[in-house]
Amino acid sequence: MTEAEALVHREADKGGNRREWLLRLEDVKFTYPNGLQALGGVSLEVAAGEVVSLVGPSGCGKSTIISLVAGLNQPDGAVSWNPDGLADVDGHSRRLLNVVFQKNTVMPWLTVEKNVAFGLKYLSIPASEKKRRVSTLLEMVGLDEFRTAHPNELSGGMLRRVALLTGVATYPKLLILDEPFSALDEPTRILVHKDLLRLARELDMSVLLITHDLGEAISLSDQVGILTKRPARVAELHEIPLGRDREVEQVRATPTYQELYQTLWSGLWKQIGRES
Ligand SMILES: Nc1ncnc2c1ncn2[C@@H]1O[C@H](COP(=O)(O)OP(=O)(O)OP(=O)(O)O)[C@@H](O)[C@H]1O
Ligand SMILES: [Mg+2]
Repeated sequence: MTEAEALVHREADKGGNRREWLLRLEDVKFTYPNGLQALGGVSLEVAAGEVVSLVGPSGCGKSTIISLVAGLNQPDGAVSWNPDGLADVDGHSRRLLNVVFQKNTVMPWLTVEKNVAFGLKYLSIPASEKKRRVSTLLEMVGLDEFRTAHPNELSGGMLRRVALLTGVATYPKLLILDEPFSALDEPTRILVHKDLLRLARELDMSVLLITHDLGEAISLSDQVGILTKRPARVAELHEIPLGRDREVEQVRATPTYQELYQTLWSGLWKQIGRES
């Protein structure tokens, strides 16, 4: 399916189960000041509550897409937010977006709870609400007993959970993750995946995930986009019909997952193969 067809297809699907769009990129191009063209026209849509993953050749422009969505660079082309999707939910003060990067982003001199609370510092919500929010989140990922521990006392999986919570604590409408789990062994990664899906569901949060791991992309996402080599465009967009209530550790054994893996792998390889 071409990029244009995929967008039309998604518009047509609006009458079905798809929720209102939250973020839309239309033919977004970007060239760095040194003349290097990183993006060649990316079109993409993330619906409210949806997880969308992007996979693509190394160096194709994935992190550049994030920098444009986060407003760190100005694109050529439209990056739009749906104003209807941005109202506060249930009286919670919410931020538009937050980003969690691959490298450890926790501060070693702060305790777990202070790391998670750090992003709330400048939010105008009562201190009692901040405290409650941090406790709830730590409980949700099983870290409540470690609230006063420092990062050097935690395992790799626990550290990644803390990093995830630093992004989640502002209750962003969109959580952007740039290869956040790649340093974890597979069983630990799957446990952190379960936490991510639970957080996304319970906080009604959309997720834009950049990953090199096709299994991760399939098991977490509603949509997976395969990018071309640089300058990146969305070469293929695949629906992942595994439902929102999926159990990530179980979907891997299903024929649907295995078929999707083959389809995505051949799509990705087509792009990687073009590099050599
Ligand atoms: N600040 C910058 N100035 C100039 N070129 C840059 C800058 N940042 C990135 N690039 C280049 O833009 C291209 C895309 O980089 P980007 O980091 O977006 O790729 P990526 O897909 O995230 O790579 P990776 O798979 O390694 O994470 C690369 O060729 C990179 O060298
Ligand atoms: Mg990158």
